[in-house]
Amino acid sequence: MGQATGKGLATNKKNKIFVYDKQRTSPLTLEEVVEKSEFIFICVPTPMHSDYSGMSMAIVEEVAGQIAKVAKGTGKQSLAKSEFGKIAIVKSTVLPGTTAGFIKKYPKVNWAMNPEFLTQNNANKDFLNTARTVIGASSKKVGERVKKLFETIYPKNLPYYIMDVTSAELTKYMSNNMLASKVLIADEFYFLAKKVGANYDDVRKAVEADPRIGTHLRVPGPDGDVGFGGACFPKDMIGILGLAKKLKVNMSALSAIWQENLKIRKNRDWEHMTSAFRKK
Ligand SMILES: NC(=O)c1ccc[n+]([C@@H]2O[C@H](COP(=O)([O-])OP(=O)(O)OC[C@H]3O[C@@H](n4cnc5c(N)ncnc54)[C@H](O)[C@@H]3O)[C@@H](O)[C@H]2O)c1
Repeated sequence: MGQATGKGLATNKKNKIFVYDKQRTSPLTLEEVVEKSEFIFICVPTPMHSDYSGMSMAIVEEVAGQIAKVAKGTGKQSLAKSEFGKIAIVKSTVLPGTTAGFIKKYPKVNWAMNPEFLTQNNANKDFLNTARTVIGASSKKVGERVKKLFETIYPKNLPYYIMDVTSAELTKYMSNNMLASKVLIADEFYFLAKKVGANYDDVRKAVEADPRIGTHLRVPGPDGDVGFGGACFPKDMIGILGLAKKLKVNMSALSAIWQENLKIRKNRDWEHMTSAFRKK
């Protein structure tokens, strides 16, 4: 996702991109990248715990701390005087409350949260063809500046949703959990169609014609399996279920979807992805 973000922003030659990646050879250190940059995107993994109890924010927290050390002093105070304080933008999918925690812990840094909706198989194209841009920001000024950055690459008519950071975080989870849930509902109708002698593809196409429901109801899915897999849907569902349990919020419908996914899906591909699945 970091690569798609860098490549996407670089489509406007005025944007200069600097990259630091801990596990790959990077020409610059993290400190150098922060020093050179006005906007610092955090695109690191937020894997689920391998016991399925929730999602780990440890890497994002570590990186946020490293960035804050270098970027501090460019936040609130300098922003009051000038418009040019650095902005650290959390692009990783993080649990609601994570970025608000950074604002509290590192108040001298400008923080934003900009969830990403691209798909892994089509990352570069999806980044540039997003249906909307969601920006959570620590202040109105910060939100406007991030919007201006995206306006350098996106078409003029792209809708922007600017909100507080926790709402931006939740937007990403609700989107992914809605998309994952509809896979399971489609699967159930597929098996029902077989039993009653209906043609599922005819049914699907007619259902997909309703914009309230949307597309992507094909069964089996593009990977030939039923249920949902991949790096993001499973961990984002586990993440939100873990948070709901901690906060004692009833999400039993979502929980049932997850249990059913485990039952019907043959390939638990996410268990082999280090960015999605990690031992506690
Ligand atoms: N891939 C997608 O389709 C997609 C879509 C939307 C959101 N996301 C979110 O983006 C985040 C990253 O996912 P990804 O798929 O890009 O993962 P990835 O594993 O492809 O990339 C993450 C990169 O971060 C680097 N990294 C790890 N620890 C680091 C550290 N401490 N400091 C610096 N770099 C470090 C890794 O070397 C790796 O290159 C996750 O939160 C994910 O949920 C991914």
